[in-house]
Amino acid sequence: MPWIQLTLDVPDDLKDAVVGELSGEGVAGVWESGEPAPGWTRLIVYAGVTADLESMQRSVRLLFVRSQCPEPVISRRSVEDQDWTEEWKKSYSSFPIGNNFFVIPSWSGYACPEDRFPIRIDPGQAFGTGTHETTQLTIEAIERWVEPDQLVLDLGTGSGILAIASRLLGANHVVACDIDPVAVHVARENIDRNAEDKVWTFCGSVEAIRSGSVRLGLCNLTAEVIISLLPEIDRVLEPRGIAIFSGILREQNEQVREVMDRYHFTIHEEASRGEWLALVAEKHGTQVHLPA
Ligand SMILES: C[S@@+](CC[C@H](N)C(=O)[O-])C[C@H]1O[C@@H](n2cnc3c(N)ncnc32)[C@H](O)[C@@H]1O
Repeated sequence: MPWIQLTLDVPDDLKDAVVGELSGEGVAGVWESGEPAPGWTRLIVYAGVTADLESMQRSVRLLFVRSQCPEPVISRRSVEDQDWTEEWKKSYSSFPIGNNFFVIPSWSGYACPEDRFPIRIDPGQAFGTGTHETTQLTIEAIERWVEPDQLVLDLGTGSGILAIASRLLGANHVVACDIDPVAVHVARENIDRNAEDKVWTFCGSVEAIRSGSVRLGLCNLTAEVIISLLPEIDRVLEPRGIAIFSGILREQNEQVREVMDRYHFTIHEEASRGEWLALVAEKHGTQVHLPA
């Protein structure tokens, strides 16, 4: 069956909104195929022949207009069915991430620069290729906050990339979990591929973690999930433990900060890239009990 391929360039600030708009019915996948200019991403969208292309293009144009960007040029062509995983693999290559790491697709024989740790990843169906701003912001924060002899909790591990990075930087024990069993399987394979010991994985979430046991929590989730899990994250952190919160849209900053304030977290750092924000926060020394 043939597919329709749409190609368009979007400003990085608009990328996630456009991908969200395009992830509706009839769309098989949206790929980021490169950076046509600084601050811009080229998106390639594959849609079934029955998809309502006119309506999709209208919604995308509307997003541009609302953001006061010139209307995008959207090119369209028909492509034959193919092995999509193999096609995607061609677009995922090695790249540096943070100051210390170099991501290498597991199927590539690319050599790692001597001054960086290699992270060999096959993301499969899991989130965590390393190309997303939210992962990059978290890795950069890990580089500043991880210390030896710590227990690190990677909450929502996806491909396992953050767990691997933490261990490479000397975290003594890492526990990585995800509510998606496919992600846990992928993470386990990637952790083993990188020969990382002392990294435990399980399918589930923060509820399974012992109170007061975590020194550094990695939470690249969404603002909604962070807010709903904050009481549990507070419970599992040691007094004065640190949590790195990522996956927050800039416009959600106040909302997230307000809830963190209620739980008496002190925010030490705020970093942003594109439309995304990461916060590094310290838990208050004693457990805070809030009225229901
Ligand atoms: C944005 S991805 C982050 C993946 C990876 N850690 C990274 O930084 O690239 C978020 C992951 O959190 C998982 N997740 C969502 N809600 C969760 C929850 N309540 N507990 C644990 N994991 C969750 C999702 O399945 C997904 O794999």
